[in-house]
Amino acid sequence: MMPAASPARLQEFTLEVATAVVQEFKDQPGALISALHKLQETFGYVDEAAMPMLGKLFNVSRAEVHGVTSFYHDFRRSKPGRYTIRVCQAEACQAMGSEALTASIKQQLGCDFHETTADGNFTLEKVYCLGNCACSPNVMVDKQTYGRVTADSFKKLTTVLAGKVSSSKEGSK
Ligand code: FES
Repeated sequence: MMPAASPARLQEFTLEVATAVVQEFKDQPGALISALHKLQETFGYVDEAAMPMLGKLFNVSRAEVHGVTSFYHDFRRSKPGRYTIRVCQAEACQAMGSEALTASIKQQLGCDFHETTADGNFTLEKVYCLGNCACSPNVMVDKQTYGRVTADSFKKLTTVLAGKVSSSKEGSK
């Protein structure tokens, strides 16, 4: 799994910064994937506007850059939400009801995997084992794992997190 970048550390995308952060991979054959990882680490996603620059840098067509980006599902094509929620889909969590929990989470958030809620607060992703099987079913929010999650406890958690987002917005006014 790709390391989750904390949204607080993410930078706003600019082509200038994108070009600067991928320079270390220039002239390294096959380093396109490393450059894409670097962009995702920096901005939380790979912006469409970076594609022509990457094509030039690695001497490949824009279509090839697109192909690689869409082949690896870890690469996001749009800006992630304030929090990234990963719901475990592996066996132990499944045995403890992660399927029903996932359905409820999708319904509560009003979005599917690889999508972001309309308010921009949450991006939903799946994950396969968080190493906390004894406390299944598990959900990870950014880097924090929550065990024995129920539809109700998930609701409470996202209400608290959404509250934090709106109070930080208030505070920055
Ligand atoms: S299977 Fe979900 S944490 Fe291991």
